Amino acid sequence: MDIQLVQLQKHGDERGSLVALEDQRNVPFSIKRAYYLFGTKEGVRRGFHAHKKLQQMAIVVRGQCRFHLDDGKEQVEILLDNPAQGLMIPPGLWHEMYDFSSDCVLLVLANEHYDESDYIRKYEDFAMEKK
Ligand code: TYD
Repeated sequence: MDIQLVQLQKHGDERGSLVALEDQRNVPFSIKRAYYLFGTKEGVRRGFHAHKKLQQMAIVVRGQCRFHLDDGKEQVEILLDNPAQGLMIPPGLWHEMYDFSSDCVLLVLANEHYDESDYIRKYEDFAMEKK
């Protein structure tokens, strides 16, 4: 599977670090929505969907979590623990998130507003579409 991890430039100096996220520059789409997950309880697994059209980029700005990615052919587990790394979640990619550290803040940028009709929430529907 072609996993797209975007390396985000870190502007660091003796004061600390800064990462900028810019529409059509290091984020390869127009950002229309941002949301973040935090305070995720131990042992929780979430996600369990793919999108029909939505483009997203996930950045763990604090802590760490793992992603389970499935393109219908291959399944991959990936650890996100670097605030200067963005994981692209293109449409048609089944994803689940798990192993959240207690301090994890997972920021997600998206190119559209929230739209439940863009979700594929049943794995069997996802698998059927991939056939
Ligand atoms: P949910 O889809 O269950 O999150 P995940 O699939 O990442 O585990 O979303 C939880 C709730 O938040 C659900 O009621 C929908 C709502 N929500 C919004 O209102 N706007 C958003 O941008 C997102 C991602 C979710």
